[in-house]
Amino acid sequence: MTVCMRDARWSDLSEILRWRNEPGTYANFHNRYPLSLPAMQRWLSDALADPRTTLWMAEREDKLVGVLRVDPDGAVMIIVAPEARGQGVAGSMLAHLPDRPLFAEIRETNTASHAAFATAGFCRAGSRCGMLVYRREKADEERARDLATRVMPARAVKARS
Ligand SMILES: CC(C)(COP(=O)(O)OP(=O)(O)OC[C@H]1O[C@@H](n2cnc3c(N)ncnc32)[C@H](O)[C@@H]1OP(=O)(O)O)[C@@H](O)C(=O)NCCC(=O)NCCS
Repeated sequence: MTVCMRDARWSDLSEILRWRNEPGTYANFHNRYPLSLPAMQRWLSDALADPRTTLWMAEREDKLVGVLRVDPDGAVMIIVAPEARGQGVAGSMLAHLPDRPLFAEIRETNTASHAAFATAGFCRAGSRCGMLVYRREKADEERARDLATRVMPARAVKARS
């Protein structure tokens, strides 16, 4: 199944908010709490208004499955829709990252994120504010092509009690 990337738009707000406010998501962020609607509106309108910020939505079979943001300083943020996790979506999305110096801050316990960024060519480069920093100076084009087309079997996602 192919994952396609497109520019984010204002109508994506409710899906991004739903994903961002899922406990398994915000547990991995600096701000470990749900965002209010006005805060999310600010976040999205700032990103859409800044031409130096990349904000992409991932679609698979006409369904939104993830959001990927790259800030002007090279910070990368990714969320995959909870129901689409463990199926290779993050790997496919990260294969679309631009070829410039990038970094991500990842909580030590976020195993899936460590694996996804390592596979996308990022290396551990210290820590900051309780998060591990992963950096990539340059993309490996062959690996990116391979990842973009990779299909993984669905992983059983543990139900939240
Ligand atoms: C982290 C996250 C983006 C991963 O997305 P995903 O689509 O489930 O990841 P993928 O299925 O592409 O798997 C990526 C890698 O993680 C591994 N992985 C996936 N789920 C895993 C899990 N639950 N436990 C351990 N490893 C896991 C995969 O095997 C794969 O490894 P590989 O690249 O070595 O083959 C997703 O879980 C998420 O949105 N989490 C909440 C937000 C977040 O933590 N964002 C990252 C902060 S920048």
